[in-house]
Amino acid sequence: MNNNYTKQDMTAVRNLLKNRNIVLTQSKKVEEFEKKWSKWLKVKYSTFVNSGSSANYISISLLKVINKNKTKNEIIVPSLTWVSDVNSVIMNGFKPVFVDINLSNLSMNTKEVLKKINNKTLAVFITHAQGFNGLNDELINKLKQKKIHLIEDVCESHGAKFKNKKLGTYGLISNFSFYYAHHMTTIEGGMICTNNKKIYELSKILRSHGMVREAKNKKYEKKLINKYKDLSPQFIFLYSTLNFRNNEIAATFGINQLKNLDKNNQFRTKNFLLFLKNLDPKKYWINYDIHGSCNYAFPIILKTKNLKKRDFFEKQLFKNNIEFRRGNAGGGNQLRQPYLKDIIKLKNFKEFKISLCINKKFFRNISS
Ligand SMILES: Cc1ncc(COP(=O)(O)O)c(C=O)c1O
Repeated sequence: MNNNYTKQDMTAVRNLLKNRNIVLTQSKKVEEFEKKWSKWLKVKYSTFVNSGSSANYISISLLKVINKNKTKNEIIVPSLTWVSDVNSVIMNGFKPVFVDINLSNLSMNTKEVLKKINNKTLAVFITHAQGFNGLNDELINKLKQKKIHLIEDVCESHGAKFKNKKLGTYGLISNFSFYYAHHMTTIEGGMICTNNKKIYELSKILRSHGMVREAKNKKYEKKLINKYKDLSPQFIFLYSTLNFRNNEIAATFGINQLKNLDKNNQFRTKNFLLFLKNLDPKKYWINYDIHGSCNYAFPIILKTKNLKKRDFFEKQLFKNNIEFRRGNAGGGNQLRQPYLKDIIKLKNFKEFKISLCINKKFFRNISS
């Protein structure tokens, strides 16, 4: 990715900086961006934070705060995702339960998710990978039926849809990233979205040191001020968290970049289809479910497991100045990553044959 800041972005930031009395830490522009983002996504509330990983982390902290049944301590995650999806689960004291992906959308396999659900399952944390929709009616209905929270990571899929509704509007909470390489950018940044007022207010508290006043709910604040009479009313820290706030410059980028998001996404989809049409189906996997997808990258899966071919392919991309990431972004298949070695002891690797590419026969047979 390069050159994704427009002249208009720069002008908007310059205009912001012209005002000598301006507050540059989180203030009015952040609020304006949150409102505009909510309107674009069609959710009630959004909380702007300093990265997509922070959005992931706060979302799982939110689950910890609202979870009344402490025996529910498992969260289902995909094996192929970004590292912060797993770490936010671990760092909040939950157990990540891994599920393999589908080749059709690089998202969790619904049948496998349903198999892993038990009475300890608190939530399913789905990743809509690389712009593909990972949802289906079976998953949504079963989770509703079983009262299991759905959290959507949409950090790679801004504008993608399931059934004419944008991804990020189905779960109790959803996350977006505005890192430089994504569909739109705020330099660094992330968003936590929800239709639930309580979740929204808590997300603002958790974004900012756990401070009660951040919720801007006077009734709630008064109640806590009365409860903790010996504390300074302005500085009641309710939960253990850190500072995940963003700032006015990033929000100004966000407000301006959002104006072009839909238009740019149309170009992305056109390009994606053009690349897909030109891939040789004998050599590469092309059977993606592109319904509602909005991709910011182009996945290339070789049909044969041949490391020499892969290395040759990577060399060609490199030589032609085409940016690429092996095995998806974020480390791809998390089960291969050293940070998990002492945390998760996997007994049955066969369960993850798609993420791990371990079944040669399977890869020989995916010609259809
Ligand atoms: C699926 C997914 N989740 C979370 C993140 C983390 O976002 P950030 O880089 O803004 O921390 C990323 C980053 O690219 C991502 O792809």
